[in-house]
Amino acid sequence: MSTNRVLIFDTTMRDGEQSPGASMNRDEKIRIAKALEEMGVDIIEAGFPIASQGDFEAVQAVAKEITGSTVCGLSRAAKADIDRAAEALKPAKRRRIHTFIAVSPLHMRVKLQMQPEQVLQMITDSVTRARSHTDDVEWSGEDATRADHDFLCRAVETAINAGARTVNIPDTVGYTVPDEYHALIKMLTNRVPNIDKAVISVHCHNDLGLAVANSLAAVQAGARQVECTINGLGERAGNCAMEEVVMALRTRKDHMPFTTGIKTEMITRNSHLVSTITGFPVQPNKAIVGANAFAHESGIHQDGMLKDASTYEIMTPESVGLRKSNLVMGKLSGRAAFRSKLIELGYEIGDNAINDAFKRFKDLADKKREVFDEDIIALVDDSVVRENDRIKLVSLEVICGTKGAASAAMEIEIDGIVKATKASGDGPVDATFNAIKQLTTNTQHLQIYQVHAVTGGTDAQAEVMVRLEENGKTVQGQGADADTLVASARAYINALNKLLVKREKSAPAAMSA
Ligand code: KIV
Ligand code: ZN
Repeated sequence: MSTNRVLIFDTTMRDGEQSPGASMNRDEKIRIAKALEEMGVDIIEAGFPIASQGDFEAVQAVAKEITGSTVCGLSRAAKADIDRAAEALKPAKRRRIHTFIAVSPLHMRVKLQMQPEQVLQMITDSVTRARSHTDDVEWSGEDATRADHDFLCRAVETAINAGARTVNIPDTVGYTVPDEYHALIKMLTNRVPNIDKAVISVHCHNDLGLAVANSLAAVQAGARQVECTINGLGERAGNCAMEEVVMALRTRKDHMPFTTGIKTEMITRNSHLVSTITGFPVQPNKAIVGANAFAHESGIHQDGMLKDASTYEIMTPESVGLRKSNLVMGKLSGRAAFRSKLIELGYEIGDNAINDAFKRFKDLADKKREVFDEDIIALVDDSVVRENDRIKLVSLEVICGTKGAASAAMEIEIDGIVKATKASGDGPVDATFNAIKQLTTNTQHLQIYQVHAVTGGTDAQAEVMVRLEENGKTVQGQGADADTLVASARAYINALNKLLVKREKSAPAAMSA
């Protein structure tokens, strides 16, 4: 592999899943993993197998499905964690165990309550154990950017001596700045005697909004693996956004002569997929994938764009897979045309999801004069996301207006059994959510309710995001429909389905990755 090739390590399904509310079930992880594989991601971190039975099964399922990328599982520096990760990864064609331990004085003293020499011993033991399962072992020194430099050098050297092929230098708390991080990577390159036997990896959190800048600085200093997530999902303020780091490398090749294996034309598609599955909307002004990233509002800009797009666009919308709004189909379009449209949009989905999406497309075409590619994408992602939901919306009728309290009549299906109710509320959304609560549980609290239109026009589909909280656990649900109330009900029910999964999951102690 060329020395200028940067490996892309995606951790959307591990660190990204640590975003409060962003849980993913097994099928959702398989779907994201396939999209990442197709996109050319080198390593997919699919989860943290010891965290729960659900996470174990999700990593195992991804390991069975994915052949084009290496599948990775995270573990702390404990034998049981490492063995569990190895077990989950067994079916993978190419597997990596990623084991980590804290290396900063603060973390070692407060969290691990260990002396530095004990930590070095743990590094040897954990990496050796991981190497007994696979040749491909990554070691991370948690909170490396606040570590003592002499100790960090010894820790990295120890990990490589024990057999780590990748050494990751995380900025766990998003504390560093580009020139400092550049110097840290250079320092390791110059001082660790066996550094040429491993790939240096970087993993940056975005607490100061510097994750991408720091990652790029590290690449310029010699790092050849970047850990990142789609849409910058991740713990707290998130991780380095894959779409940003990859497009920066592509667009500024003149300044940074590095390549990745990412098919950038899949960026927009996969951003939407992850946003739908996690229920995390993308902010409109987000670089690369925000709705406004390629929009030109001012007259001067529009004039320049008409003369030559390069006046105000440093990359083309097509290079990130953004398509011109296409009027696609109408209510007379048949199933075969619908299926071929899906293939053109890059979908490969099962018959059940196609049937559901086709029925919803027909309903939408009845209500909406013009159906665009964006409508189809919203609708299909929405159908696929809820394919295996235990709770499903069957029907909804809402009465509201100026003449009294709003009321909602609703039918939902729970584990195959249809239940019906009527509820009132302070407005149509409140009545709809009260009906759902009557039929399910009332222990969750609504934290966020957000609506946005998929396309322009008053007949546009609504995409709704709902965040629920229960006993300190949060989940986000998403729903799309031409009717805002139906979209709202779908979003609330989607969040409830995630809460069911969350109730079964519990995170292991002292996990602060
Ligand atoms: O932020 C962090 O330090 C991590 C490690 C597990 C790599 O997520
Ligand atoms: Zn992290």
